[in-house]
Amino acid sequence: MKILIAGYGTVGKIRHQELKKFLDVEVIGICDQIYPQAGSIQNGIPTFNNIHDMMEGKGENADAIFIALPNYLAAEATSLAIESKLHVFCEKPPSRNVQELRMVLKTYENHRGQVLMYGFNHRFHPSINKAKEIISSGEFGEIIDIRGIYGKSAIIKYSPDEWRSQRKFSGGGILLDQGIHMVDMFRYLGGEFNVLHSKVNNSHWNYDVEDNAYALLKNETGVVGSIQSSATQWRHKFSLDITLTKGALSLSGILSSTKSYGAETITLIHPQASQPGNPTEITFKYSDDQSWAEEVEWFIKECKKVTTEAFTNSQDALQTMELVYAIYNSDLEWKSKYGADWS
Ligand SMILES: NC(=O)c1ccc[n+]([C@@H]2O[C@H](COP(=O)([O-])OP(=O)(O)OC[C@H]3O[C@@H](n4cnc5c(N)ncnc54)[C@H](O)[C@@H]3O)[C@@H](O)[C@H]2O)c1
Repeated sequence: MKILIAGYGTVGKIRHQELKKFLDVEVIGICDQIYPQAGSIQNGIPTFNNIHDMMEGKGENADAIFIALPNYLAAEATSLAIESKLHVFCEKPPSRNVQELRMVLKTYENHRGQVLMYGFNHRFHPSINKAKEIISSGEFGEIIDIRGIYGKSAIIKYSPDEWRSQRKFSGGGILLDQGIHMVDMFRYLGGEFNVLHSKVNNSHWNYDVEDNAYALLKNETGVVGSIQSSATQWRHKFSLDITLTKGALSLSGILSSTKSYGAETITLIHPQASQPGNPTEITFKYSDDQSWAEEVEWFIKECKKVTTEAFTNSQDALQTMELVYAIYNSDLEWKSKYGADWS
């Protein structure tokens, strides 16, 4: 398979490292604005300054593309690649807002033989897989509630030039950038949620994107969820607690390249009838982050299948984006301030 990469920052490079592990996969072009307009060769791979030049130069020879560009370029790049008949893997978030994603999906309607996959790599994390397996088995009963916190110190780097801290480039702040993974986990493990109440604010960093989002959710069967996505946590933190009718699951830490979210663990909590308040607990600890590798492998395998209806998780991506935007919209103060940008 011949592959292109659009955007060669942190994640473009991670995807490239994973692609190198496949003997029958070749990266035949990379574009990033850091490369010269006239193009160059880096480590034997032709480079381009923008996606249009790359599609013109290499699009016809390529089978698939990985898009790891800033959010404001994601939807346009995805539509361009779909129309150029490539299988597409695009990083989350799929776009700046729901409207942009709907336009991409309209384009995709006429290309259902191509794979369109969005990168929600948390679904491939071992603790999440374990939680999913236990919940599906029914061993712990029905879910009562889910509580998730995902936080870091800032929107990312403190530079005002950073695209993530500017609404016109990012579409949103910490919730759209990082909290979207937690929102996706809620849907993956707990079904479809509505927003009961939310508070979104940017009072600390004072960018035009949020630095905190808090939301109270409820799903169709009455499961209550509470979520906080924070860029004022002052340390990296991931925690997800799921209470069920016969026990509880407590996930803490998430493996990342820096290991700064702590060890990834899931604790299985079984109440003891004889000793209330003193449950038995078993903790599983994971040390190897295979989520990027497994996600890339999944995409490559799907691309190799020849079908008229190819794999897509675009409906999931849309529903996750809709829930993120339901959180924004539920805070009427936030909506009146910034809603015009997405309505
Ligand atoms: N799955 C995950 O957990 C995860 C983690 C981090 C980031 N992401 C997503 O991956 C995407 C990229 O994030 P990142 O952290 O790599 O960002 P980044 O800023 O490190 O990289 C973006 C790259 O795009 C390049 N670029 C910017 N404008 C361009 C243009 N007009 N033409 C060509 N290249 C251009 C930049 O030079 C940069 O190298 C984002 O959508 C982000 O949300 C996903």
